[in-house]
Parts: sequence; C-alpha cells; structure tokens
Amino acid sequence: MRILVTGGAGYIGATAVAMLLEAGYDVTVLDDLSTGHSDVIPTEAKFVKGSLLSNQDLDEALTGCDAVMHFAAKSLVGESVEKPDLYAEVNVGGSKALFSKMKAHGIKKIVLSSTAATYGEPKRVPISENDEPAPKNPYGATKLEIDRMVATSGFSAISLRYFNVAGALQSANGWLAERHNPETHLIPNILKATNDAPVKIFGTDWPTEDGTCIRDYIHVVDLIEAHIKALETLPEAKHEIINLGSGDGYSVRQVIAAAEKAVGHKIPAIESERRAGDPAILIADITKAKSYLNWQPNRGIDQMVLDTWNSIK
Ligand code: UFG
Repeated sequence: MRILVTGGAGYIGATAVAMLLEAGYDVTVLDDLSTGHSDVIPTEAKFVKGSLLSNQDLDEALTGCDAVMHFAAKSLVGESVEKPDLYAEVNVGGSKALFSKMKAHGIKKIVLSSTAATYGEPKRVPISENDEPAPKNPYGATKLEIDRMVATSGFSAISLRYFNVAGALQSANGWLAERHNPETHLIPNILKATNDAPVKIFGTDWPTEDGTCIRDYIHVVDLIEAHIKALETLPEAKHEIINLGSGDGYSVRQVIAAAEKAVGHKIPAIESERRAGDPAILIADITKAKSYLNWQPNRGIDQMVLDTWNSIK
C-alpha cells in the first residue's frame, strides 16, 4: 500500500514518513521545501518536489497511491495574522486542489493534520471534539475550513486535532528534529536559551497555579502512531474528528523544570509580557482517541524534552 505524505519534509511529516516505511508501507513525499528540509527524506521514499497548487505536481505525486496523509500547510499563528490571504491560498486552496485530484485519481482515503487552534478560547477543559469550534486566528480558521470541506467530500477520512507536539524520533537516518526558522515553540526555545538570550516566559499572571500558561504536550512518535492507527481504521465514506494530546497539562515553569532535569543545568529564563492570542489553559480530552483508535500516549514530558535535546544538541 502506497501512502502520499504531503509535507513529508517537515518535522511532523518526516516523522510520519520514517514510521510508515518502518511499518512496511511504500511512501511518496510531496513537499515544496518552503519550510521543510530535503535531507530528511529517506532514499526509500519517492520524492516529488512540488506544490499542492500545481496540478502537474499533484498528478505526479498521487500516481500509484492508495491513501493520503496530509500535513503540508502554513502553520504559524503569528504569521497567519499578518498574512491571512497566504494562509487561505496555501492551506484552503491547496487542500481543495488535493481533494479534487484525489477524486480524479480514485483515491478516497485520507488522514488529515488538524489542530487545537480550531477550538479557539476553550469554554471548558479538557476540550472534547463535540465542543463548538471558534478559531481565534486565520491559521485555526483555515484548518477548520479544511475539516469542513473533507466532511462533505465523501472520503473515508479522519482529521486529527493536535495539541502541542514535541519530542523527536531517532530514525535510521538520524534524529528528525524540529527545525523551524524562526523557532516559536516553547521546548526548542528553552533548550536553546543562553545567558545572553534567555527563554522568555510569556506571562506570569495567568489564572493557573504558578501563573504561567498550561499546555497539553504530545510526543511526535505517539502522534504518528495514532496517524497509522487512523489510517488502518478509516470509517467507510465518513469523516471523524479526533483530538490528539496526552490528556495532561504542564505549565511553562513545569516544562522548564523538566528541561533542567534533562540537560543537568539551570535554564536561563526571564519573565516577560503575555503573548497576544495565547489562551491560559489548553488540555485535550483524549477519550475518543483511546477508544476509536485503540491508542494511548506512552511518552511523557521528560522523554519529550530529552529527545528534543538529543535531536538539537
Ligand atoms: N511560550 C513561552 N516562551 C516561548 C514560547 C512559548 O513562554 O519562547 C509559551 C506560550 O505562551 C504558550 C506555551 O509556551 O503558553 C506554548 O507555546 P508554543 O508556541 O510552543 O505553542 P502554542 O500553544 O502557542 O501552539 C501550538 C502550535 C499550534 C497549535 C497549538 C495547539 O504551535 O499550531 O499548539 O495547542 F494550534
């Protein structure tokens, strides 16, 4: 069975490629390398350097495939606020073109990368799939639009709504690290902190026990295990939405403490203003992921921090 992995040169997509190959699948990667890195694509995968917005590239990539894992997207919340049209074009336009070409090629199976950003400010935690989505930024809005498009497509489809993905996989070709530029995510920023450039703690007056924001961190390997289970349990001509997190929350200060344990020294950190658009607490209700996918997360925050450290040091 051959799987097309769109965005397979990115952090999460490349982890999926490595784990799909390991599980015995054939893989085609479609990536325009706008944010991905070609050196993470294994030689066993067929690589099409191209865009979702090119019919020719899509035809080449989809040829011979039986199913799609769709990761390719613009995914920075801040950038999406500055460039909403770019996010609409790449995320919504690209997905629309992909779905239309999948139909032309007779491919009906798809696992999609969605996000907790579709929910916006939570009305309650933990957040369940039944909670009303209300995205607070164009990134979340484009991902919600994609989920809605796929819901009426007639495909056998699962959208996986990620909470905070972290950690790294040591693949046959080395560590698949998070390599964003600029890096905005907490764990890599903590691990890169120096005395001259300490990590900023965005807000210490949130309504949480230690005053810092709480997030639900999930190891990228647990995340991709859930994708492979989703691929293997796709509902017939139906769409399901499933949250992926650990079901537990950690504050920014708790993540810094976990990192200090992993690296064995104090992390330089400074208290800073709140970052615009951050909700205080995001935690996933993962009851559906556990029952529907017969899956559970196995790697905790210490492992996420340690693997990230080993992948970037
Ligand atoms: N934070 C800091 N300092 C930093 C970076 C982050 O204090 O240098 C804080 C943030 O304010 C937030 C937490 O650490 O409270 C996590 O921030 P990240 O930027 O790592 O992640 P986000 O929670 O903002 O967003 C991530 C993904 C989104 C996704 C969301 C879902 O980037 O795409 O998780 O939970 F929608």
